[in-house]
Amino acid sequence: MSTRIYFEEYGSPQVLKVGIEELPEPGEGQVLVEFRAVSVNPMDWKLVAGHLKQWAPLDLPAVPGSEAAGVVAAVGPAFEGFAVGDEVIWNGFIGGYRTEAVVPADQLTPLPAGVDFEQAACIPVAGGTAYSALKQLAVGADDTVLIHAAAGGVGSAAVQIAQAFGARVIGTASEANQEYLRELGAEPVTYGPGLADRVRLLAEAGSVTAVLDAVGSDDSVAATAELLQGSNRAVTTVPGKRSSEAGLAAVRQLEGRIEEAATLAAEGQLTFTIAHRMPLIEAAEALEISRAGHGRGKIVLLP
Ligand SMILES: NC(=O)c1ccc[n+]([C@@H]2O[C@H](COP(=O)([O-])OP(=O)(O)OC[C@H]3O[C@@H](n4cnc5c(N)ncnc54)[C@H](OP(=O)(O)O)[C@@H]3O)[C@@H](O)[C@H]2O)c1
Repeated sequence: MSTRIYFEEYGSPQVLKVGIEELPEPGEGQVLVEFRAVSVNPMDWKLVAGHLKQWAPLDLPAVPGSEAAGVVAAVGPAFEGFAVGDEVIWNGFIGGYRTEAVVPADQLTPLPAGVDFEQAACIPVAGGTAYSALKQLAVGADDTVLIHAAAGGVGSAAVQIAQAFGARVIGTASEANQEYLRELGAEPVTYGPGLADRVRLLAEAGSVTAVLDAVGSDDSVAATAELLQGSNRAVTTVPGKRSSEAGLAAVRQLEGRIEEAATLAAEGQLTFTIAHRMPLIEAAEALEISRAGHGRGKIVLLP
């Protein structure tokens, strides 16, 4: 028997319930994974709230959660890709808030040596998205990259990956996260009115060459357009009418991004700050923290 966190109606994180379920045997091409760490993303509370139902309608009840790490406990018939005992990273769309899950084997990535389960669980969404965005921007050693919301999951990964690519990094965060950004190696600025001026002062006129926006606020979009002055080297993880009108491209998730981010993690170039570790059954509280929108690094649920 396994535990799952599910919702039967859209709403606040408080609609989440804890249940017990009997999982099926893995079928052809499927693997049973015992999760050791499950990572929380803003998409999870947005999914529970029904914000995504226009483009991804769900059959309720549904289980949120799109990434986890664990150990293969069983494999489907005639399957050769993974073996019992293998340590793996899982990334899907929903279904991750579980102690164990039967998943398609093609949603698994081998966990590299030296990366623990908590770190591994954070790699696909935050690491993979940051990696994809910086590749899309073709960031390299000649760049000064501005990262909006640099203290969050995606932002903190992007700060580290951009530096691994050789770039200088300026990051925006609240006052409370300025020192944290410095520790990550970024030059911090506070967001809010006057942002573009503060960045210019730091970077010297015209020297921001690429922007990753991981918040999509009025400020971040306006400052991006002002600083890049017609250059199209700006990518957002929060696409919408406002950002597309301002010339920010939506992030495109790259094939192979999870393996690439996992390699950076194994090399010590990408480490997630785990701000909150909580039992899986406290998922509702974890989603409340995520929904508040001022996290530092990541929240991990422990099955
Ligand atoms: N399109 C995709 O494929 C994709 C993939 C991943 C994520 N996303 C989206 O990208 C966004 C970020 O994800 P995440 O996982 O990094 O979120 P997160 O971990 O919750 O981080 C949010 C960060 O935003 C910062 N923040 C809040 N208000 C801000 C503002 N007005 N200006 C600048 N920063 C602000 C907070 O920093 P302070 O505490 O310092 O304010 C916090 O660190 C979410 O909307 C998520 O859904 C999209």
